Amino acid sequence: MKTTFFAFAAILFGELSSASKLYAASYGGSVYSLALTSSNGSHQLSKLAESTECGDSPSWLMLDRDNSVLYCLNEAIGSSNGSITSFKTHQDGSLPVIERLVTPGGLVMSAMYSAPAVRDHDFFAVAHYETSTITTYSVDRARGHFQHLQTFTYTMCSPGPNAARQDAPHPHGVIVDPTGRFVLIPDLGADLVRIFHIHPETGHLEPIEPFVATPGSGPRHGIFWTPKASENTTPEVYFYLVHELSNTLSGWRVSYTDDGISFSRVFEGSTFGNYTAPAGSKVAEIIVSPENNHLVISNRLDNTFGPNNDSIAIFSCADKSGRFFNGVHFLDLFPAYGSSVRGFDIGGSPEMFALALEKSQKVGVTQWNKRLGAPGKLLAEVELNGDVPAVVWDLGPNSPSSGSGGSDINVDVCGS
Ligand SMILES: *[C@@H]1O[C@H](CO)[C@@H](O)[C@H](O)[C@H]1NC(C)=O
Ligand SMILES: *[C@@H]1O[C@H](CO)[C@@H](O)[C@H](O)[C@H]1NC(C)=O
Ligand SMILES: *[C@@H]1O[C@H](CO)[C@@H](O)[C@H](O)[C@H]1NC(C)=O
Ligand SMILES: *[C@@H]1O[C@H](CO)[C@@H](O)[C@H](O)[C@H]1NC(C)=O
Repeated sequence: MKTTFFAFAAILFGELSSASKLYAASYGGSVYSLALTSSNGSHQLSKLAESTECGDSPSWLMLDRDNSVLYCLNEAIGSSNGSITSFKTHQDGSLPVIERLVTPGGLVMSAMYSAPAVRDHDFFAVAHYETSTITTYSVDRARGHFQHLQTFTYTMCSPGPNAARQDAPHPHGVIVDPTGRFVLIPDLGADLVRIFHIHPETGHLEPIEPFVATPGSGPRHGIFWTPKASENTTPEVYFYLVHELSNTLSGWRVSYTDDGISFSRVFEGSTFGNYTAPAGSKVAEIIVSPENNHLVISNRLDNTFGPNNDSIAIFSCADKSGRFFNGVHFLDLFPAYGSSVRGFDIGGSPEMFALALEKSQKVGVTQWNKRLGAPGKLLAEVELNGDVPAVVWDLGPNSPSSGSGGSDINVDVCGS
C-alpha cells in the first residue's frame, strides 16, 4: 500500500475551520500529512495521510506553497542511490506523485533559486552528505517537474581533525543569499562553506573561492539575516552558521562586490551560551525568528531538560525592531519536549513552532511566544513510525514565509 488515509482525521480537517496542515518526513520510509486542529482551547495533531513513495529514508522536505508542490529528498541510507520525488499537495492531505528522479545517495538538504534571464523555469540544488556531492536541477515550479543539470563531487587528501566524521567532504546545507546571486553549501567534512555564483543567463552554478570555517568545527546549516527595510540606510547582511562538531554558532558580516561575496567574522560561541555542551550533543538547525531579531537553534541529544528532553537555544542578533544589528547575545535555552530536534518550522496565525523530534519519533507543536521571541508551551504532539528528521507547515498558497528550516521555497531573508 503506497498511500494510507486516516479517515477520522480527514473528517476533522474538513469540519473544523481552525485547522492547519503540516508535512513530516520519517526515516521509517513515510511522508505524512498532519492536521493541527483546535477546539475549545485544546489542540490535537492527527495524521491525515501517509505516502511511502519518497523512498526508504525521507530526510528533507521543500514545500512550494504557491504551486502546491512538495519535494521530498530520499537520503537512501545504506544504499548508493537516492532519489527526489515531487508530490502535488491537496486540502485532504493526499500526496499524489508528480515525478521521481534517481540521484547519488546521501541527500540531506535542498533550496530553490532562479536566474534573471531564465524566465520559463527555476532551479534547485541538493547537498549529498554521504556521497560528497552537490547536484543541481532545473524545475518547472508550476507543474513540479524537474531535470538534472549539474553534479559536483569532492575529495579530500586527508581526513579533517575529527577523523571519524571528517573522513571525506560532507556537503550538508544549501542556502541562497538575499540577493539571489549566490548559493552557499556548508561542508561538514571539509570545514568549508562552498560558494557558487548563479550564472544569470543559464542558472548554472559556478564555484568561486569557498570560505574556511574553524578546523574540526563541522559547518552544517546556515541562515542569512537582513534588517527589516528601513529608509535611508544601506541594508547590511549577516550570515549565521551552526557547526555540528563543535556545537558553535558563528556570525559573519557579508560584503558584496560586482561579482563577488565575502565574509568577515563578527561572532563565534557555544550554542549552549553560558552553559556547558553535554557530551554527545550535536547542533542541527538554525532559523531567524518571525520578529526578525532572534536566532533559533536546535541542540540535539543534550538532555538539558531531563532524559530525552533537548533544548532550543535563542540568541538575539538585532534590536527589538529587527532593523539594526545589535551584536550576537545568548538569551536562554528552552525545552524541545523530545529528543533530537532535527528540523523545525514556525508558521500559523498566531505563530506556532513545529518540531521534528527525530529520536522521539514524534512531531510536536508549541506556542511561539512573540513577547519573548522564543518557543512556548507544548500544544500537541503525534507519534509517527520511525525517526523524524523534517517537518514543514503548509498554510496554503501565498501564506507568509516563515523563513525557516530551509524547507521554504523563498530565499530565506529573515522575517521577509
Ligand atoms: C470547554 O472547556 C471548558 C473549560 O475547560 C469546559 O468547562 C467545557 O465543558 C468545554 N466544553 C466542551 C464542549 O467541551
Ligand atoms: C547511482 O550511484 C552511483 C554510485 O554513487 C553513481 O555513480 C550514479 O551516478 C548514481 N546514479 C544516478 C542516476 O545519479
Ligand atoms: C546563563 O544565562 C541565562 C540567561 O542570561 C541565565 O538565566 C542563567 O542563570 C545563566 N546560567 C549560568 C549557568 O550561568
Ligand atoms: C521537558 O521539560 C519541560 C520543562 O521542564 C517540561 O515542561 C516538559 O514536561 C518536559 N517534557 C518531556 C517530554 O520530558
